[in-house]
Amino acid sequence: MKTKAVLLLFCVLLSEAFSKVYGPICQWYKAPSTSMAIHWVQENFSSDAESADKADANDLDLSLSYRSDDQKKWLSSPVTNRLFGNTKNRVYSVDIKNLTPDTRYTFKIRHGNKKLGIWFFRTAPSKIEKGITFVTGGDMFHSRELLDPMNLRAGTEDPLFALLGGDLAYANGVDANRWLEWLESWNRFAKSPHGTLIPMVVVIGNHEVRGAAYRPTNAPAKSEAPYFHSLFYGLDEGSKYAIDFGNYMTVVALDSGHTENIATQVQWLNKTLEERENFIYKFVCYHRPAWGTGVKEDAVDIQRLWSPIFERHRVDAAFENDHHVYKRTYPLTAGKRDDMKGVMYIGDGAWGTRTRAIAGNWKVRRPFLAHAESVNHLIKVKVENGKLTYKALEADGSIVDEYQRINSKEK
Ligand SMILES: [Fe+2]
Repeated sequence: MKTKAVLLLFCVLLSEAFSKVYGPICQWYKAPSTSMAIHWVQENFSSDAESADKADANDLDLSLSYRSDDQKKWLSSPVTNRLFGNTKNRVYSVDIKNLTPDTRYTFKIRHGNKKLGIWFFRTAPSKIEKGITFVTGGDMFHSRELLDPMNLRAGTEDPLFALLGGDLAYANGVDANRWLEWLESWNRFAKSPHGTLIPMVVVIGNHEVRGAAYRPTNAPAKSEAPYFHSLFYGLDEGSKYAIDFGNYMTVVALDSGHTENIATQVQWLNKTLEERENFIYKFVCYHRPAWGTGVKEDAVDIQRLWSPIFERHRVDAAFENDHHVYKRTYPLTAGKRDDMKGVMYIGDGAWGTRTRAIAGNWKVRRPFLAHAESVNHLIKVKVENGKLTYKALEADGSIVDEYQRINSKEK
């Protein structure tokens, strides 16, 4: 009996000591000027599935406190938790609200007497003023050798946030450990030169889903993306949502046939953009390209059903992913170059994947393309009053492509 008690105590101490923390990461799913969602995953060493299914008593000891640089008092926000997909590990989250715009915050997490760490984040400005910068890209993680340097580049560019366009961890809804590595890499490398964590805005891709599904007219259920849906917030009504930065910029996330059909999002997309008619800048992001380089077939359902809506609402750019190359189209209306009123499609998802080869005759076969290249990259977008600048950057900071558009919709 005594031996059993000692063994139990040893196991508890061991799990306390080695309950590794993956993250934290910061996510925006709404109100970027006044809120921040923080998530991390902790390993559960219990071999008892039933106890893993309940919140551990120790969870009551978990706390997150935060304050802005000019506040003396630490505030605390409740920590909630849930199982990470079908694993025994738990996701812990804090949804901080009522923050001050354009302000740096410190936060710390404690587990009982143990400090898990101190981190920093910054909220979004509520007005465009001097302009903001964000980075975007998808198809992040074939290997750590490709993922880590690009995450480091993302942080080094000091963006306000990162818009991640799907195929984040390549777990295919079954390999949870790939998410743990992905969390670890983002937490470690995607930090600004001022030490702040870069908040992410996430978009679903086929590799978030079991069977890597791309079924634009017959999409699987949300439950087929168990890690994506248990890790992130803001996905109660599916993977489509809009984030508004003051009234100067909106970013609309769409699901290109991974857990929702293309057609069923049409009405919502139209209404969402209509409600934001007066925003200066409008961006959309989804995984599967409508206007690609030919390395895979174009998403014709998106061309047919979403592109006319983008055109009607004067969307500035559609960020596409999935093809593991870089491309930028000319501004397009119905697939034809239209420098005055067209929508630019830019991507195509080669953050940290091996790239694909593009056929040498793309200029002839695909006259809507302005640039196509097989190269790992992220896209840095500078948003200023009256001007948009897009730069495709390699992990070492080399410029692959640069494009600037003067905005005629300036308010
Ligand atoms: Fe993909």
